[in-house]
Amino acid sequence: MIKLDTNYAHCDTLPDYAGKVAEIHASIINKTGVGNDFLGWYDWPSSYDKEEYALVKKLAAEIRQTAEVFVVCGIGGSYLGSRAAIEMIQGIYPKRDVEIVFVGNTFSAPYVVQLLEKIKDKEVMVNVISKSGTTTETAMAFRLLKQFLETKYGKEGAKSRIIATTDKNRGTLKEFADKEGYATLTIPDDIGGRFSVLTSVGLLPIAVAGIDTDEILRGAKQASLDFNNPELSKNTAYQYAVCRRILEGQGKSAEMFVTYETQLTMVAEWWKQLFGESEGKEGKGLLPASVNFSTDLHSMGQFIQDGGKCLFETLLLIEKPMLDLTFPSDPDDLDHMNYLAGKSMDEVNKKACLGTLEAHHDTGNVPNLILTLPDTSAYSFGYLVQFFFVACAMSVYLLGVNPFNQPGVEVYKKNMFRLLGKK
Ligand code: PA5
Repeated sequence: MIKLDTNYAHCDTLPDYAGKVAEIHASIINKTGVGNDFLGWYDWPSSYDKEEYALVKKLAAEIRQTAEVFVVCGIGGSYLGSRAAIEMIQGIYPKRDVEIVFVGNTFSAPYVVQLLEKIKDKEVMVNVISKSGTTTETAMAFRLLKQFLETKYGKEGAKSRIIATTDKNRGTLKEFADKEGYATLTIPDDIGGRFSVLTSVGLLPIAVAGIDTDEILRGAKQASLDFNNPELSKNTAYQYAVCRRILEGQGKSAEMFVTYETQLTMVAEWWKQLFGESEGKEGKGLLPASVNFSTDLHSMGQFIQDGGKCLFETLLLIEKPMLDLTFPSDPDDLDHMNYLAGKSMDEVNKKACLGTLEAHHDTGNVPNLILTLPDTSAYSFGYLVQFFFVACAMSVYLLGVNPFNQPGVEVYKKNMFRLLGKK
């Protein structure tokens, strides 16, 4: 399903890691490693709460009946996964009755003001998502949205248009939602934000977009079976995890995630959060960066080709694009583009990819890991995220840090609260 090609990356010492990988695998299965309270994602594609999932589907159907705009209010793991899924599966300009917009992920006033202006004459429903229930960006946007809804629909009307996705028992948002009587969905205790896209956090917005969430879970389940293998030679997720560490050992300090489809830009953002927050701690970790080619060949391409040799690339390639077109001939050929006439646009994209691979690897001496996925379907999305969850846990455990906490993100909050005079 997902293929890993290491031929452009010189990871010859890969088999040497087999013993260490089997040991870490056992610690994941037996929940004996650090952060083992947060391994709920591991068998989630089989063990997910079926009642909660039925509620997600019911709410999604109601929202699709009622709303013209569905506002997803959350940050980090509370929005990146659903946005990545929706764009990957449906493309950037989908034909859809409900528009989905994202807020609660920024303090940028122009963004928030323009969003409120954009939705003011539409039928709106809101999903506020926060596991902790105290995230300031999300709480600030949610207060504005609540007041917006109350002005538009009255206090009672507003209540029926809000769904809160949060912790089962604790937190400010949980108390708030119970008091106001909002419909609530639950984030499992043992699944952290960046591992939560297959829970209600991701599935409600994805279902509202009209995507088949059963297929996503089916893909994820297959991946969880495929990558539940302690043998490194048979586990592609573990091979990718180890290759990252090998390349780091060869002096690379950054991993550039490369996509060739615009609709994968948010998958790259999601991937950056997954790996950045999971491994960037205790002064360790690869810097996760991303580019979308060929667009960024006209910006970052120069650095990758000729700049400092600090990085390797990880390509995520799609065998069959969601859509394609045949490039037309033109009788006048004033633009001298007739040499491409009759070719499919995807063929051009794939040749650009091959040419770039040769340029970066052969000429630029940049190692490339190549991941190939058959398509951008819902099934493939589910498979892909579970692949990266497993790979991330293994890779970060190999580094010797806890993949599931994020102590570093508290520092800015502490300073910001002091500066804002929060008691
Ligand atoms: O992965 C994580 O845990 C974080 O990125 C969180 O998802 C993010 O900080 C949002 O947190 P919360 O859902 O508590 O508002």
